[in-house]
Amino acid sequence: AASGPLKGRHVLVTSGPTHEPIDPVRYIANRSSGKQGHAIAAAAARAGAQVTLVSGPVNLPDPAGVDVRHVESARDMLAAVEAALPADAAIFAAAVADWRAASEAGEKLKKDGNAIPPLMLTENPDILATVAHLSNRRPRLVVGFAAETQNVVAYAQAKRARKGCDWIVANDVSQHSGIAGGVMGGDSNAVHLITAEGVEHWPEASKAAVAEKLIARVAASLGPLGAA
Ligand code: C5P
Repeated sequence: AASGPLKGRHVLVTSGPTHEPIDPVRYIANRSSGKQGHAIAAAAARAGAQVTLVSGPVNLPDPAGVDVRHVESARDMLAAVEAALPADAAIFAAAVADWRAASEAGEKLKKDGNAIPPLMLTENPDILATVAHLSNRRPRLVVGFAAETQNVVAYAQAKRARKGCDWIVANDVSQHSGIAGGVMGGDSNAVHLITAEGVEHWPEASKAAVAEKLIARVAASLGPLGAA
């Protein structure tokens, strides 16, 4: 877009799951459609931003007007995010796998006899926490997501402090959240926006509407171009 409240700004968004290889044909992944992250990237582009979307494997088209970097694993996602900096705002909507296989088999693991292969895990980098703690190239506004099934606000406030981000967008992904069809893979979302100032409860809305509202808040927070 040639104009809009984010004209002249670079917005970085992560979306989708990551795939962590076990062997050439198997992987570990999280459940994530990428719908919310992709909607945020699209909304930022419509608001005039230059947008880099670092996406794990999803069944969604690349949003119009967005520079999309396709990645598979958490380590690839972190490298693509670091390569995309600097950014004015970074929004981490991806469902990154917390763990990966400690070693990736070079050949397909075989079902020979009855020996079940052990799966040793190791921790993945936390992309949000890494970027939020950068001393040099930290984006002015760093936003994380939190999917919780209980004590949603309290856990998200603790996550905001621990990860060092400015805002957390928290949603209740439990079965009793009341959202028909569920949040995961569904088209709507009811979220809480957690900032240093407090908590806002946003009513259930489409993921596109949540994205629009979040991007409007990002634009307001960054302020007019040229301001400090
Ligand atoms: O700790 P948890 O996975 O619940 O945190 C969710 C937030 O952290 C999301 O914004 C997610 O994109 C981000 N995250 C990340 N890298 C990880 C794990 C989570 O960027 N390895």
